[in-house]
Amino acid sequence: MTTATTLATPAMTPLPKLNVVPFVSVDDMMKLVLRVGVERFLTELAAVIEEDFRRWEMFEKCPRIPSHSEEGVIELMPTSDGTLYGFKYVNGHPKNMREGRQTVTAFGVLADVGNGYPMLLSEMTILTALRTAATSALVAKYLARPDARTMAIIGNGAQSEFQAIAFKAICGIDRLRLFDIDRDASEKCRRNLKGHGFEITICASAEEAVEGADIITTVTADKQCATILTDNMVGPGVHINAVGGDCPGKTELHRDILQRSDVFVEYPPQTRIEGEIQQMPADFPVREVWQVMAGRAPGRRSPGDITLFDSVGFAIEDFSALRYVRDKLAETGLFTELDLLADPDEPRDLYGMLLRCKAKL
Ligand SMILES: NC(=O)c1ccc[n+]([C@@H]2O[C@H](COP(=O)([O-])OP(=O)(O)OC[C@H]3O[C@@H](n4cnc5c(N)ncnc54)[C@H](O)[C@@H]3O)[C@@H](O)[C@H]2O)c1
Repeated sequence: MTTATTLATPAMTPLPKLNVVPFVSVDDMMKLVLRVGVERFLTELAAVIEEDFRRWEMFEKCPRIPSHSEEGVIELMPTSDGTLYGFKYVNGHPKNMREGRQTVTAFGVLADVGNGYPMLLSEMTILTALRTAATSALVAKYLARPDARTMAIIGNGAQSEFQAIAFKAICGIDRLRLFDIDRDASEKCRRNLKGHGFEITICASAEEAVEGADIITTVTADKQCATILTDNMVGPGVHINAVGGDCPGKTELHRDILQRSDVFVEYPPQTRIEGEIQQMPADFPVREVWQVMAGRAPGRRSPGDITLFDSVGFAIEDFSALRYVRDKLAETGLFTELDLLADPDEPRDLYGMLLRCKAKL
C-alpha cells in the first residue's frame, strides 16, 4: 500500500495498475475539496450531475435498497450507464448525533462494466453532503425565482453549511436565516460560514426563519413524520428545498403545502416511497427534475408559483460525484493504492498464488 497525500500541488501522478484500486480516504477527500476550493468543487460537481441528469435515460435505475431498523436505515444505491457501474452504501440514524456520531455516513465504489473491476473506492460522507447540496442548488437554479437572494435553513446540522455554500455559488444566495431546535447548531453554522460573504440571522423559530425568505431549505433529522413547515408559513413565489424527509415515516412538510405546490422529484418510484409525497396518493402529479433540465418539462411557470424539490437523494447523483472525484485523481494524487484485487500471474492459478505466499512466510 502506498500513500500519496500532500496539499502541495504534485506532478501528474500515474493512476494505479489494474490490480490495485485507488482509495480516497476522508483525509484525501478533505484535501481534495480544499485544494479545488469548496465553491468551485460544488459548481463543478453540479455541472457533472447536470450532464448525467441530461442523459438520464441511459442509466439503470431502481429505488435504493433499504434495511430498516428501529433506530435508522442502511441503504445500497446502485446504478450504471453501461460503461461505469457505481454504488453507495449509506446510513441514516438521527439518534447518532446525540451519541457523538454522524447521522449520515457513506462510502462508494465506481467499477468498469467491461471487466467488473472496481476503479475507485471512496469515502462518501463528505461527498454525500457535497452532492446533496450541489443537486439542491442545481435544481433551484431551474426552479427558484432568478431574483432569489434570501434562504431560510431549518436544521443546522452536518449538511447545512454545504447547502448554504452551494446556493451561494450556484444561485447567488447571500442572506441566510437559520433555525434549529438546538441554538448551538445555528451558532456552529454561523461560525463555519464566516468569511463566505453571507449576511446571517439566527432565528428563534421556524416561523421567524421563513419571513422574507425566497428559498426555504428544510434539512432536519428526526425519525418520524414531523411538521417543520405548515401551510401558512409558505407564501407565493417561494421555492422549497425539502432535504430531510427521505425515508418511509420521515417527512418534514404538512401535506397541504404539497397540494399548493408544483412538486419536482428525482426518481418517482423511489420518492413515492421515501419523500414528502409518501403522504399523497400514488398518482399525485410530480415532474422529474431531469426532464426540466433536458427541456422536456416546464420548471417554474410564473413568479407566484410555489415550487418544491422533494429531495431524497438518488444513485445517479452519487455516480456523478464518484465520476468527478475519479477524474481528479491523476491531477492531484490524493489517493492511496489499495491491494484489493487478487492478481495471480496465471489467472486460473489463484491457489498457486496462495502457496507461493506461504513459501515466502
Ligand atoms: N435528500 C438527500 O439527498 C439527503 C442527503 C443527506 C442527508 N439527508 C437528510 O438530511 C437530514 C439532515 O442531515 P444531517 O446530516 O445534517 O443531520 P444532523 O443530525 O447533523 O442535523 C440535523 C439537525 O436538525 C435539527 N433538528 C431536528 N429536528 C428539528 C426541528 N423540528 N426543527 C429544527 N431543527 C431540527 C437537529 O437539532 C440537528 O441540528 C437528515 O434527515 C438526513 O437523512 C438527505
